[in-house]
Amino acid sequence: MKIILGVAGGIAAYKAAELARLLMQESHEVQVVMTKAAEKFVRPLTFAALTGRKVLTNLFAIESAIEHISVAQEHELLVIAPATADLIAKLAHGLADDFLTTLYLAFTGPVLVAPAMNVNMWQHAATRANLDTLRLRGHRIVEPDSGYLACGMTGPGRLADPEAIVEAIGREAHKRRDLAGETVLITAGPTQEPLDPVRYISNRSSGKMGYALAEAAAARGARVILISGPVHLPAPHGVEVVAVRTAVEMRQKVFENLDAADIVIKAAAVADFHLSKVPDHKIKKTAARISLELDPTPDILAELGRKKGGRLLVGFAAETQNLQQEARRKLESKNCDMVVGNLVGVSDSGFESDQNEVILALRTGETIPLPRAPKREVADCIFDQVLRLRLALHAANGN
Ligand code: CTP
Repeated sequence: MKIILGVAGGIAAYKAAELARLLMQESHEVQVVMTKAAEKFVRPLTFAALTGRKVLTNLFAIESAIEHISVAQEHELLVIAPATADLIAKLAHGLADDFLTTLYLAFTGPVLVAPAMNVNMWQHAATRANLDTLRLRGHRIVEPDSGYLACGMTGPGRLADPEAIVEAIGREAHKRRDLAGETVLITAGPTQEPLDPVRYISNRSSGKMGYALAEAAAARGARVILISGPVHLPAPHGVEVVAVRTAVEMRQKVFENLDAADIVIKAAAVADFHLSKVPDHKIKKTAARISLELDPTPDILAELGRKKGGRLLVGFAAETQNLQQEARRKLESKNCDMVVGNLVGVSDSGFESDQNEVILALRTGETIPLPRAPKREVADCIFDQVLRLRLALHAANGN
C-alpha cells in the first residue's frame, strides 16, 4: 500500500521510526510527513534514511506549493502516529496551518490515528470530544497503551506498540474495498409516533449504531442508503440519507429502495405501536385521566423477511433480558440471516452509548459474542461476519 505516515511532536515520535521501518519491511511505500514540533524530537533524516524518500515538513516551500494535494491523491491510507492532543484537536476542527493538517483535509481515504500523550491530557473532556468527532468521521483510533509515561505518571497515554499499529493498518488495508459494487440499505434511529400535532411516543435510540454501520459500509466501498428516524447526528460522509419520522414512513422508504439493495440492515428501533388516527388538534387537559388506544405499526423487518429474495437480511434485537434466546427467536420469526442482539437499559452499552456489546445470531446456527467496543468497530465486525455468512450460505446453496 501507499501509506502516508504523519508524525506529530511528542516524545513518542521516536517510536514512529520503528513503525516506518516495520511498514517498509512489509513492502509498503511510506511517505513521512512531520510537523514542526516533531522535528524537535526526531530529525527528518532518520525517516528519510528508513523510507528512502524525502520527508515532507514545510507547506510553504516553493517546490511544494500544491504538493499536499498531490500527496493526498497519490496515497491510499493516512496513518498519524503519534497523534498529540494538539494535532487531534486540529484534525477535529479542520484547522490547516501546516503540511500535515492541510494534507489531512485534502485526503479522502481511510485515516488511522494513534494518539500518545500525558494521562490527564488523554482523559480531558476536550480530547475525548475531539476523538469522538474523529470516530464519527469513520477514522480508526488505535487506543494508547497504559503504563509508565515519559512525564512520570502512570496510566493510559503511551503510544500503542508499533507492531499493534501495523496490525491495525493490516486490518484497514484488508477491509478497504470489500463492499465495493454492493448497495447496503440501513435503517437507524428511533421512530416518532404522533399523538396529536405537538406530542409523540418514541424511544431512547440515538441512531449511533446504525450511523456507525453506514460509515463502515461506505468506508468499505459500498453505496449506502441510510433511512433514518429523527436523530442528532451528522450525515456520514458519502452516504445517501433519507429522513423519516414514523414507522409507516420508514416502511414506505425501505420498500421504495429495496430493489437497489444487496444487503439490508434494520438497526432502527421502530416503535411497535402508534395511533392510527392522529387528532388534528392538541389533546386538551379536560379529563383527570385519559387512555389511548394504540394499534400495532407495520413490522418492517418481518415483511422484509417475506420479500427479501436473494438479499442478505440483518435484524436487531434490543433486549433487557434473555438476549440469546430472543435474538434466535427473532431470527426465525422474521426470516433473517443474522440478528444482532444487544442488551439495552444497561450503562455503557446499547442505546445512547458510544460503545456496544452485542451477540450475533446467524442462520448457520452459530452465535458469536463480540467484545465491548466503540460502535464503529462493532460495525466493522458485523460486516466481517455478514460477508463471511454470505459466503457460507452461497456455499451451502451450491452457488
Ligand atoms: N422492527 C421493524 N418494525 C417494527 C418493529 C421492529 O422492522 N414495527 C425491527 C427492528 O428494526 C429490529 C427488529 O425488528 O431490527 C427487532 O426489533 P425489536 O424492537 O427488538 O423487536 P420487536 O419485533 O419489536 O419484538 P419485541 O417487542 O417482542 O421485543
